Amino acid sequence: MDVKKRMNLFYRYILMTASVFILIGIVILPLTSEEEQFFVLFSLIIGFIILLVLIYHMFENYVRPIRASINVTNELVKGNYNARTYVKPHGEAQQLSNAINVLARNLQEMSIQEKMQGSQWKTVMNNMESGLMLIDERGYVHLINRKFMQMFGKNSVDYIGFLYYDVLQDDAIHKVVQETFLYEEKMTGNITKSINGEKHYFEVVGAPVINDVKELKGAVLVFHDITDLKRVEEMRKDFVANVSHELKTPITSIRGFAETLLEDEMAEDEIKEQFLTIILKESTRLQSLVHDLLELSKIEKEEMKLSTKLIEVDEWLQSSLTLMEQQASNKSLQFIKEIKPNISFHGDPDRLQQVVLNLMYNAINYTAEEGSIFLRVDENDNEVIIEVEDTGIGIPEEARQRIFERFYRVDRARSRNTGGTGLGLAIVKHIVEVHQGTISVSSEMGKGSCFIVKIPKKW
Ligand SMILES: Nc1ncnc2c1ncn2[C@@H]1O[C@H](COP(=O)(O)OP(=O)(O)OP(=O)(O)O)[C@@H](O)[C@H]1O
Ligand SMILES: [Mg+2]
Repeated sequence: MDVKKRMNLFYRYILMTASVFILIGIVILPLTSEEEQFFVLFSLIIGFIILLVLIYHMFENYVRPIRASINVTNELVKGNYNARTYVKPHGEAQQLSNAINVLARNLQEMSIQEKMQGSQWKTVMNNMESGLMLIDERGYVHLINRKFMQMFGKNSVDYIGFLYYDVLQDDAIHKVVQETFLYEEKMTGNITKSINGEKHYFEVVGAPVINDVKELKGAVLVFHDITDLKRVEEMRKDFVANVSHELKTPITSIRGFAETLLEDEMAEDEIKEQFLTIILKESTRLQSLVHDLLELSKIEKEEMKLSTKLIEVDEWLQSSLTLMEQQASNKSLQFIKEIKPNISFHGDPDRLQQVVLNLMYNAINYTAEEGSIFLRVDENDNEVIIEVEDTGIGIPEEARQRIFERFYRVDRARSRNTGGTGLGLAIVKHIVEVHQGTISVSSEMGKGSCFIVKIPKKW
């Protein structure tokens, strides 16, 4: 209350009291004698002054603090928790003012805490790795988080306040919501969605929201992106199918020829030898398949302990080069080496030799006679660059990323003829990656391919 109003009230009280005294004076004075009149007037004036002091005292100690308290209470009602009332150091209204100030302080603390909790909850909700949607018992959307918008697009205004089935078209989601409401239990479902042209798999979990008196108040829907999990599951299934298939062929063949040999005792030595050769060849294939598989699983399980050393490239490549030269000349291939001298870096020499040999074998296998293969080793400040290039059949564009997958072969029949298992590049990629390096491929059909391996010098 401003000062002016307060003073007005004060003057009104004085005016009222003065009127009462004047009235008393008017009534009493004519009834008294002249000597008594002075005494009555004096008494009235003294009485008026005493009353004036009393009114002032009452005003200061009761009316003013109570008025101030009412104002503060009104401010608190409006939500202004900063409001405080004026507290006199003493006086009877002090307790009331004190209580109101304590109340205001508590309210302020509570509102700060509530705000903090609200913002913490918002932070958690918006940084969750899963999409979230809150639906009330009538099916209206009340809340969604940031991840949900990333998954399903659009903004919160396009969802909040709408019925869930109007904003989410998927039948599987409708089913989860309906069953959650019906059974009042956690329900799950799966949906697929295309995001930026990529197919994503989601698990939808619906949980009922039940209040203290066991009434259903709505449901929370949580969307988990399980695309990676699905991919791993599919890869595992593919892997098992591929391994079985790869093992089946040589085993069937070995068994078939062995049975024939046993049954046909009269068979000529020449045929026996032919069959035994096939059995030997197939069992060798089986052995290399099992060897590669074990190798791969060892690397994948991160059991592969690298024995890192300083590799002097010239010396390190010596034995592989001799082997390669021989293989290349068997196929009348030109072998061109461009190795920068005196390169050295840290790595596992045996494993990295495996990388070079695998790439070189591929280059030799997939290049027709009279072609050329190149081995280049270069370096920059941070990495060693190994390039294996050929003038062979090339790799079709759609296969370029897939050739690093286990068992993937562009031409199964051809690769099998060369004794390939389709595991070579998968192993190469793993070894390069445990060295924190990268491998890439460029190729032109019918012209040749080039594999580039980059290994950091320090890792
Ligand atoms: N230099 C290359 N030129 C053309 N195609 C290639 C080349 N290198 C790899 N490929 C293709 O990539 C596929 C996968 O190669 P990868 O080395 O993993 O298997 P593989 O050579 O068939 O068998 P292995 O496991 O015995 O090496 C090959 O089957 C082949 O189709
Ligand atoms: Mg190979």
